[in-house]
Amino acid sequence: MKSLSTQYMGLKLKNPIILGNCPYTNDLDGLKKAEDSGIGAIVLNSLFEEQIDSSAQSDMSGAEGFLTHADAFTFLSQASTEHYVDKYMDLVEKAKASLDIPVIASINCTSDSMWLDIARRFASCGADAVEINHFIIPADCKETGSSIESKYLKFAKKARSVIKMPLSMKIGWHFSSIPNMVKSLSDTGVDGIVMFNHFFRPDIDIEKVCVDSENTLQPKGDYGDTLRWTAMMSSEIDADICASTGIRNASTVVKMLLAGAKATQISSVVSMNGFSAVKEILDGLGDWMDRHGYEKVEDFRGLLSQEKVGDPQSWERSVCLKLYSGFRTI
Ligand SMILES: Cc1cc2nc3c(=O)[nH]c(=O)nc-3n(C[C@H](O)[C@H](O)[C@H](O)COP(=O)(O)O)c2cc1C
Repeated sequence: MKSLSTQYMGLKLKNPIILGNCPYTNDLDGLKKAEDSGIGAIVLNSLFEEQIDSSAQSDMSGAEGFLTHADAFTFLSQASTEHYVDKYMDLVEKAKASLDIPVIASINCTSDSMWLDIARRFASCGADAVEINHFIIPADCKETGSSIESKYLKFAKKARSVIKMPLSMKIGWHFSSIPNMVKSLSDTGVDGIVMFNHFFRPDIDIEKVCVDSENTLQPKGDYGDTLRWTAMMSSEIDADICASTGIRNASTVVKMLLAGAKATQISSVVSMNGFSAVKEILDGLGDWMDRHGYEKVEDFRGLLSQEKVGDPQSWERSVCLKLYSGFRTI
């Protein structure tokens, strides 16, 4: 009998579609709807270091006047941070109590300090895994790429030593050598690498003449970078690859699995189209497997990875060759 199940970071998923952070992963109601849609696992909305720090700061604004003792201010602002963290832990606990599918807690942090300790505590609330989105904006002209990359690796090593549960790092693709970075991250012992995050970029509103941010939802979805690097890295590393960004339909899921991804993550398509998108993807994946005579995901996963295809050109340069060959006259 046909099965869509897969293993990702040691977790058994009934299918390779994970709901990534989106408005539905913020509360229990959305999470239950997600499970009912047939999704294989859920990543809860990230606990954002900067957001919590600033919420805690704004809770404290106005308190300075009557808090004469500096220690009291520090104590209360820490208590305020704890309040937001506790709320998140409560969501993790409730999600685990209500859902049968794996629940992956998520943290978005720029510093290792207390945030790794918080991530470690997810285990006590029952989370099945933790996904860490660590992003350093290279804003200092004097800092080299290798210095930034070593910060990522130092962070991943520390995270691995502190967090004993399945751990993934969600990264962007702005490294000068993705293969080296992905391999080095995998060598730190993390269980999964989520390739890639789509970072929201700044834009300008020319009517209000102010800095804005781009539209978060992009209907078309550009999955090209995710596909290439999944295909090139899937057989090079021990960590599992979860393909993310630009996945909008079943055919892109099939492509990511053929390239060697263990699982895929979707966010925008569910935010735009609701949970019918999940059913369409699952039906489409099942239909494709039927048409091609595959009973299990493992029967075709990685068939078109760079290692299996054999010809490195196909994932590195062939698109240019194909494009130009159409214009050749001799
Ligand atoms: C509405 C919305 C909220 C998101 N919130 C988070 C978040 O809290 N943490 C995070 O790491 N990524 C967040 N993301 C990024 C997604 O998890 C995902 O990496 C990105 O949208 C690319 O996938 P997609 O093409 O399927 O949307 C969010 C995306 C959307 C659309």
